[in-house]
Amino acid sequence: MLAIRLKSTFIILALFASIAVVGQPVSRENFNKGWRFALGDVKQAQEKNFNDSGWRELSLPHDWSIEGSFDVKNPATNQGGALPTGIAWYRKTFIVPASSAGKNILIEFDGVHRDSEVWLNGKSLGKRPNGYISFQYNLNPHLKFGEANVIAVRVNNSEQPASRWYSGSGIYRNVWLETKDVIAVAHWGTFITTPKISAESATVSIKTTVSNFKSPGATADIRTIIYDPKGKVVGSVDSKNTSLGGTNTEISQELQISNPQLWDVENPHLYKAITTIFSDDKVIDTYQTTFGIRYFKFESATGFYLNGKPLKLLGVNNHHDLGALGAAFNVRAAERQLEMLKAMGCNALRTAHNPPAPELLDLCDKMGFLVMDEAFDMWKKKKNAKDYHLDFAEWSQRDIEDMVKRDRNHPSIILWSIGNEIREQFDSTGIAIAKDLVGYVKRLDPTRPVTSALTETIPEKNMIYQSGALDVLSFNYKHADYADLPNRFPGQKFISGETASALQTRGHYEMPSDSMRIWPKDGKTKFTEGNADFTASAYDNSYAYWGSPHETVWNVVKKLPHMAGLFVWSGFDYLGEPHPYPYPARSSYYGIIDLAGFPKDVYYMYQSEWTDKPGLHIFPHWNWEAGKTVDVWAYYNNADEVELFLNGKSLGVKRKEGDQIHIMWRIPFQPGTLKAVSRKDGKIVLSREIKTAGKPARIELTADRKKIRSDGEDLSFVSVRVLDKDGNLVPNANNLIKFNIKGDGFIAGVDNGYQASMESFKAPYRMAYNGKCLAIIQSKEKSGKIRLQATSEGLRPMSITIKTK
Ligand code: GAL
Repeated sequence: MLAIRLKSTFIILALFASIAVVGQPVSRENFNKGWRFALGDVKQAQEKNFNDSGWRELSLPHDWSIEGSFDVKNPATNQGGALPTGIAWYRKTFIVPASSAGKNILIEFDGVHRDSEVWLNGKSLGKRPNGYISFQYNLNPHLKFGEANVIAVRVNNSEQPASRWYSGSGIYRNVWLETKDVIAVAHWGTFITTPKISAESATVSIKTTVSNFKSPGATADIRTIIYDPKGKVVGSVDSKNTSLGGTNTEISQELQISNPQLWDVENPHLYKAITTIFSDDKVIDTYQTTFGIRYFKFESATGFYLNGKPLKLLGVNNHHDLGALGAAFNVRAAERQLEMLKAMGCNALRTAHNPPAPELLDLCDKMGFLVMDEAFDMWKKKKNAKDYHLDFAEWSQRDIEDMVKRDRNHPSIILWSIGNEIREQFDSTGIAIAKDLVGYVKRLDPTRPVTSALTETIPEKNMIYQSGALDVLSFNYKHADYADLPNRFPGQKFISGETASALQTRGHYEMPSDSMRIWPKDGKTKFTEGNADFTASAYDNSYAYWGSPHETVWNVVKKLPHMAGLFVWSGFDYLGEPHPYPYPARSSYYGIIDLAGFPKDVYYMYQSEWTDKPGLHIFPHWNWEAGKTVDVWAYYNNADEVELFLNGKSLGVKRKEGDQIHIMWRIPFQPGTLKAVSRKDGKIVLSREIKTAGKPARIELTADRKKIRSDGEDLSFVSVRVLDKDGNLVPNANNLIKFNIKGDGFIAGVDNGYQASMESFKAPYRMAYNGKCLAIIQSKEKSGKIRLQATSEGLRPMSITIKTK
């Protein structure tokens, strides 16, 4: 839901040059700038008069963990990313003008990890243990209008280990300051549904909760205007002279829209509702809600349907971190991830295992992704000693209700998940908790099905299933049971919540090696050095003992109509959970795309299966010892066959037979040029070449965008490739690349995708990993130019210019 309070044009000049004056009449303002930060616990830091002049100045979103150094002794352990956690403070001084007196001033945090307490002028406003939930406080009780006020936030992420993945630490999402009239749309106060949809018309039902701090019985006029995707007014409804009760009153409105443009994954048409509240004919509030018109269902025998048409959910799981940026949310970084997934053919996302930044859901609405929005990774039974199980009893109802209230207008969301692989699955207490959680969700949103990611496929043993509360059964892994699910769970609807958990590193193929070992399936023996025979189809055979090769599980889900789809574990590598490797491994190996955003080979497997785009991808690289036997794999689509040539000599034509997802040639290595040609009806569709590379000779820089916004937030992702003198990628190059940046931008992060790199994500240098690394460039708030130079000993340097506007 993009529910924003429209910003008034009313401008007030700062009373004090260095202190922001905020809180303009009826507004929602970004409150990210001008914070001060101190790492460590600081006594009295909540007090208004505390002297924070020595503290570091920064803008939010901010994650202090990502700035730290990896250490095996960090209490989050390498499962949590091996970065420091701890306690820290944020403070901000601001003025709300005297002219706003009588208004309600509210602060909203999209997410603080974790266990935050917020004070205004030394008075506690409240605590929020959950690090992934959005929350709001009313500042009025302790606010001084027209004077300096101090907001102080203590963040306590010191209790560790608290997470099975990297959480990040700090105020890592946006903060907003709202000024509202005493009568206004309440927090997350709209709920828009479209109960009847046909080609000719759609019924739009709008429930608006109006908060009334004036006096019980006060009246207001409420108007909702609907704008179509092009911004044209297509409907309007008025509720005149509405009598408002004590605090919150729900107003129901309904209207019809002709010829609705439906939201779907290819054409994600979005409508807007603008709610205006009038008092004595004066506008006292405006509130925008973005929504979509679409209908969907899960069928037990035939899977998922969007707007009446069957659609397999081709999804991935992602955690919330953004690689080198850590947990600090950035819209462009998230958008880039979704762009890459979309190009792979992905149409669905599971927000493992927590509610995401609200802007991620806005992106899913805009870009056409179907979302499973998930609340928890544990209930009362722990997964880590200090995790959320300690807060579950007190906070879970509030947390899950807030997730639903915040997110229920997003057309992208098609499933709520009450939890991932919850331990109570195996315990009778799971029955009551599941019923309660589903009840809380359904009271706020009766329109969407509720699921939980389960692992137990024996019905009698699965207590969450036994609760009878779930609408859709989501099973993680266990692909061998999928065919039999309709027999075991008659009449139920199914999806796979996690698949694969296969280990890969981008561009690294040698076996045995640190990164490609076989993980024994009994789960008891430690993983061992793997298959020493490099030829044994090595590229997709290393996976968690509970998982499977990517191809195996996709072949199962693809063929079973009752499986509505799948969410691969995982779309991107993420910080933490470097199964099964010990420190210094500190980020996961499961991604289809690495942490830096470079696709691994399996990306092209999914692309060949999930899109109609002509595709041809061959691998591995072509730098081996003479005489070594090498398997060459190809993924292709929109073609009948592929022919492979080595130094101009044909190695034969192959085509996928039966269940095959890739084709393979086993050949003795000879240096030179490996070329693949795909053909359809005898005509060439695509050709690809890989050449044996010589020594590293030069650096190549490529920016994903050479013009970015000068808003201080936009990013350009600059990929570095180490090339030989003829322009071939040197596949094992690990040269140290140094960055020098000038002008109106800065380096927000560097990475190379290597899961055990101990280099800092914030350093102005990075070693190449298998020939590649990345610099993330962020704009400053100034139009101009950024010049990035990359140098490395013995290599020809390169510079690139990015414009900011
Ligand atoms: C699953 C779990 C995920 C992740 C994955 C790794 O069991 O739900 O969070 O840990 O395993 O294979």
